[in-house]
Amino acid sequence: MTTPLTKYSPRAQEFRQFAEQECPQDPLYQAICRFTAESAELLDLLDAAPPTQARPNLLLAALHERVLAGVAHPIAAYYPSVGGTRMPDADLPETLLDFVRSERVALLAHLRTRHTQTNEIGRCAVLWPALQSIAQQRAQPKLALFDFGSSAGLNLGVDDYGYRYHSAQARFEAGAVGVPGRPVIDCQWLGSAPPLSVGEWRLVERIGADPAAIDIRDAAARRWLAACLWPHDRERAQRLQQALALAQQRPEQRRVLQAQDCVAALEAWLCRLPQGVQPVLFNSWVLHYLDAESLVAMRQRLATLMQQSALMWLSAEAPALRPAGLELPALAQGATPSTLWTLQWTEAGTLRQRALAWSHPHGRWLQWLAA
Ligand SMILES: C[S@@+](CC[C@H](N)C(=O)[O-])C[C@H]1O[C@@H](n2cnc3c(N)ncnc32)[C@H](O)[C@@H]1O
Repeated sequence: MTTPLTKYSPRAQEFRQFAEQECPQDPLYQAICRFTAESAELLDLLDAAPPTQARPNLLLAALHERVLAGVAHPIAAYYPSVGGTRMPDADLPETLLDFVRSERVALLAHLRTRHTQTNEIGRCAVLWPALQSIAQQRAQPKLALFDFGSSAGLNLGVDDYGYRYHSAQARFEAGAVGVPGRPVIDCQWLGSAPPLSVGEWRLVERIGADPAAIDIRDAAARRWLAACLWPHDRERAQRLQQALALAQQRPEQRRVLQAQDCVAALEAWLCRLPQGVQPVLFNSWVLHYLDAESLVAMRQRLATLMQQSALMWLSAEAPALRPAGLELPALAQGATPSTLWTLQWTEAGTLRQRALAWSHPHGRWLQWLAA
């Protein structure tokens, strides 16, 4: 029998830190994390998760899923995602414990098998001009997109969404703004002028690959995606539902391969591409899931692929995961370092790289860097 975790354990500390640093704007998640840090019974639940997943946000998503599933319980009153308006109060800890005890079997099943796997289409606010920039650089408007670690493949629908960019000087729109039923993403534009007005591009091929591909035909999988969002953020939740509805109408444009080795899937896909298209490999918030050894191996295989083909690698990751040797670009005043968008390709046999943009992890702002 394992010893129960105490409120002094590293896991308890992780929950306290999560409350302070990750969710200061979400009073419910703050309160749940603080209470969990004091409760051996709640901390022990995460023993069911694989060590790499045993994090506060997995437990929060598992609880949220049960609420979204419609379990009738007083805890729902605290969740804005199901219409709750009650603020965290002195009753919350007991209510939470009661909920956990009554939903224990389902919660443990989630903790054992699910991952904290969001699919954030807000990132398309940066993907859109990045694709435009690639088309311009290559003088090739026909693009083929491979989304590596694509989750449910919602970012493959980049050309289906609307974008409203706001800058200090102007406000401009791109994509499907004004088309009924289309998600619209608002994004603050910082930095250099956008490359939006020059030229056109279109996706002639698109596919995703993921070791834990999400099948959007499965209602439980769709609910898990929604559960990974925070209950107070209604805007993201609405955007997700719109993107899922659209994806269900266009399954052929959101195809995601279930692949343990996504680089091998990319190699096979490159071989099948028709002539006269520009292949683009895209990954966003995926590389931190790879251990150091796998990451080195992946970079080597991709360098070879970029030598052998016209592949361009667009990567949107934490700055520490930028290409080796790339200097960190300066950030606009007031912006916090978050997602760095970089581009790699081969020119005359030499691997080249440049930084394209900084952005908020969910695309609320972007700082365009490329000229
Ligand atoms: C945080 S989600 C990001 C999903 C999507 N790229 C986005 O921006 O919304 C991370 C994704 O990486 C996937 N992943 C984890 N390990 C991977 C690997 N070795 N190769 C490819 N994808 C991986 C996960 O299954 C998950 O879908």
